[in-house]
Amino acid sequence: MKDLLMFFVHFILLSLILTVSGDEIVYGQLSETVVLPCTFNPNSNEIIIHWQRSNGQSSDIIVHSYYHSKDHLEKQNVTYQNRTSLFYSDFPKGNASLELRHLRLEDEGVYKCYMGKEYNVNLKIIYPLNKVEGDEAVLQCDIPHSLNVKNIRVTWSVAGKKPFACVDNISEMLENSRFSWVSVNNHQTNASIILKNLKISDSEDYVCNISSHDYMQLRVTSLTVAKVTTDKMENRYRYEFISLPIIAAICIGIGIGIYCFRRTRKGMNGNNQSSDSTEMDQLNS
Ligand SMILES: *[C@@H]1O[C@H](CO)[C@@H](O)[C@H](O)[C@H]1NC(C)=O
Ligand SMILES: *[C@@H]1O[C@H](CO)[C@@H](O)[C@H](O)[C@H]1NC(C)=O
Ligand SMILES: *[C@@H]1O[C@H](CO)[C@@H](O)[C@H](O)[C@H]1NC(C)=O
Ligand SMILES: *[C@@H]1O[C@H](CO)[C@@H](O)[C@H](O)[C@H]1NC(C)=O
Ligand SMILES: *[C@@H]1O[C@H](CO)[C@@H](O)[C@H](O)[C@H]1NC(C)=O
Ligand SMILES: *[C@@H]1O[C@H](CO)[C@@H](O)[C@H](O)[C@H]1NC(C)=O
Repeated sequence: MKDLLMFFVHFILLSLILTVSGDEIVYGQLSETVVLPCTFNPNSNEIIIHWQRSNGQSSDIIVHSYYHSKDHLEKQNVTYQNRTSLFYSDFPKGNASLELRHLRLEDEGVYKCYMGKEYNVNLKIIYPLNKVEGDEAVLQCDIPHSLNVKNIRVTWSVAGKKPFACVDNISEMLENSRFSWVSVNNHQTNASIILKNLKISDSEDYVCNISSHDYMQLRVTSLTVAKVTTDKMENRYRYEFISLPIIAAICIGIGIGIYCFRRTRKGMNGNNQSSDSTEMDQLNS
């Protein structure tokens, strides 16, 4: 019971941290490398850097520690093993930033840099989505079950621009007719949208923003639309090469069919034997 209470207290605190305080938000692309920024006063005697991550529970996850002039990774959580480093040569400039490599979805969250004072960095993972021209893309956005759907607002926008789609209690707006909601009457649980007949110019970062008075969650999908691959082109040409002789064969077949039909009709009419023989001669020659 006490644990549960603590959990809720932390949950609320975390939600407040996510919204109220001006945490720096850093975006990282799945499988790529990201730098979580942090600075310290370069005049301090000994350099002590602790990077930890909020767990939503009482104990934080240890991401990276540095003191006594070297890394101390004995207590580092195994999920971060071999994926972190500091910019050691930039210490004299007061740079305590953390490099995190091979990003995973589970890395998303609030990171704390302890340098005497505490500094929060909110890491968001960008979901890559690769498509080719003419495909359709489902841009996913799930509303967490824990949220009261009556009070939330969901917006879709291209990063840095004003929203082109929005749903909340009172209104529903979809400005761009090339998009459609996944579930027309059920935005309450699934705010994903579909973009059909993709063009190269649709390659953008799409942001889904789920918010209420004390909560905000962002999900960024980085859509890349490529030209139809040469593989597919080759396939298409191959089809054409295969189909050309087939079409030719069918045409010749029809031609012979018509010829035979005309010949038998002429034969039945019982005249023009000579013209038939000339046609035969032409065929023989
Ligand atoms: C720290 O150094 C790295 C590598 O040079 C750089 O990418 C980063 O922006 C620096 N961070 C700060 C806060 O100076
Ligand atoms: C390591 O981190 C994972 C989440 O990334 C967590 O589930 C696990 O409990 C952590 N392990 C320790 C020993 O703290
Ligand atoms: C980290 O690297 C060491 C040495 O290369 C290796 O033994 C260890 O298995 C690696 N850990 C993980 C989690 O990949
Ligand atoms: C949404 O509607 C419910 C009842 O239908 C109401 O209680 C709630 O205040 C409304 N929320 C907003 C943001 O308008
Ligand atoms: C939302 O809809 C998309 C597309 O149909 C689907 O892939 C996704 O799993 C759905 N999410 C949930 C939570 O149902
Ligand atoms: C998300 O939506 C809320 C409410 O519309 C807005 O206040 C907030 O600035 C938006 N956040 C981002 C990062 O767009």
